[in-house]
Amino acid sequence: MEPQAVKSNLVLILDYGSQYTHLITRRIRSLSVFSLCISGTSSLKSITDLNPSVIILSGGPHSVHAQDAPCFPDGFVEYVEKTGIFVLGICYGLQLIVQKLGGQVAIGEKQEYGRMMIEVVKDYGGLFKGKNIGDKQVVWMSHGDEAVKLPAGFEVVARSEQGGVAAVANPGRRFYGLQYHPEVTHSPEGMELLRHFLFDICDVSAGWKMEDVMEEEIKVIKGMVGPDDHVICALSGGVDSTVAATLVHKAIGDRLHCIFVDNGLLRYKEQERVMGTFERDLHLPVTCVDASVQFLSELKGVTDPEKKRKIIGKEFISIFDAFAHDLEKKLGTKPSYLVQGTLYPDVIESCPPPGSGRTHSHTIKSHHNVGGLPKDMKLKLIEPLKLLFKDEVRELGRILDVPVAFLKRHPFPGPGLAVRIPGDVTQGNALEILRQVDEIFIQAIKDAGIYDEIWQAFAVFLPIKTTGVQGDQRTHSNAVALRAVTSQDGMTADWYYFEHKFLDDVARKICNSVRGVNRVCLDITSKPPSTIEWE
Ligand code: XMP
Repeated sequence: MEPQAVKSNLVLILDYGSQYTHLITRRIRSLSVFSLCISGTSSLKSITDLNPSVIILSGGPHSVHAQDAPCFPDGFVEYVEKTGIFVLGICYGLQLIVQKLGGQVAIGEKQEYGRMMIEVVKDYGGLFKGKNIGDKQVVWMSHGDEAVKLPAGFEVVARSEQGGVAAVANPGRRFYGLQYHPEVTHSPEGMELLRHFLFDICDVSAGWKMEDVMEEEIKVIKGMVGPDDHVICALSGGVDSTVAATLVHKAIGDRLHCIFVDNGLLRYKEQERVMGTFERDLHLPVTCVDASVQFLSELKGVTDPEKKRKIIGKEFISIFDAFAHDLEKKLGTKPSYLVQGTLYPDVIESCPPPGSGRTHSHTIKSHHNVGGLPKDMKLKLIEPLKLLFKDEVRELGRILDVPVAFLKRHPFPGPGLAVRIPGDVTQGNALEILRQVDEIFIQAIKDAGIYDEIWQAFAVFLPIKTTGVQGDQRTHSNAVALRAVTSQDGMTADWYYFEHKFLDDVARKICNSVRGVNRVCLDITSKPPSTIEWE
């Protein structure tokens, strides 16, 4: 989806590195207004090409006085004034406006961090429409510098309880600024302010709907893929690749060719379950390759986690390569495109904001599940989800009739159960034991109605034997661990608090019905310090 193709009014965010920047994008999209985020130091051309109606300058960790302080490009102020674009600066963004338009920013005497009370002091510009002078509200602040002299034509419309500038406006020049973060939930009236700013002040219309995204995307794919071109896609059984493939299939039909690889490291009945969804519910043309013997024989005796991952990646590549060559023989032409389920956070990740210390690398994400692509394939990419967040992909999936239960599935790593069996994955019947334990655990979670509260739940096979007593016999069998976490994005996580009765029932059921297990442990570490998977 090219941004220009989205007809609704665009709110462009210039990112100066605040940890909350992407939250602004999401909040605005949740108001049915399309929003994109690009680096705060982007060229003027990349800004004007997007033709935004509103520009938001984000917060950031810098001081405007620093030598390398990031800033909008030369000509920016002239451009927004000439075209009548509304500008809202948030924290660092406000300070940039103040400094660049002739005001003064100083190192604050009293730094303001965390929850603060602000007070509306002037009815000017309509930022606090509906509020009276003297009205107070709680907001979230995080700044050291402060605006001490405003540029001509600007007025302070709200102050913090310490007397600092909290909000400024210059409606004539269409510049506004907030010294706090309206996008975080700790500013309970922040959403109201954003809504009011966009719809009442900027007169933006709320027309961005997932249905439009789908139509637009289909049009773009149809325009891109020629009538004789063929497209391939590796399905992992996860939400992103499934939604991406379903969308492309809707656009070009059976010129899309999908592959699903059973690497022998899948969950209980995973192959039948996902193939059932692909074929029965989504009518996707999928070739299922059972390569379990090939994968497991390569993994035999391998205990080093990195080595395991490398072997899995290499095997995926060779299967994928063979699939492409078979297809070429069958079709008489090479497939020319590859579908990837890249999401917006992946794109943002590869374009780090100024000052983040990370370098700009617009690299193509190597598909987790194929572990990279053969170098000589020279496929052009179709990434139809690259402007969407995960929850938006789920919504798109719903419109595309992907079954809801499928869309809500917990994430499953590309290397599969290999990261849930420390050591040699082929030892004894570890994989079989793990599949059974995992299935009992997940089914119990579903039966308890808590599946959707949990980001990810799974079992881990522990490569140690412990003593037990089952019946009248002493046993020397395996221990397993259960892991369930809550998380927003998998980057950090908390362990999930189960009721004791639930845990008791599950542990009992596992030991009673899975031969070879006599002990069940619960992982109660968050991330950090642990990771979600055990590896
Ligand atoms: P960790 O274990 O790093 O995992 O805390 C964070 C999230 O990433 C998933 N994960 C992977 N997903 N290929 C994937 O597709 C991988 O190699 C991989 N490793 C970890 C993990 O399941 C969790 O959701």
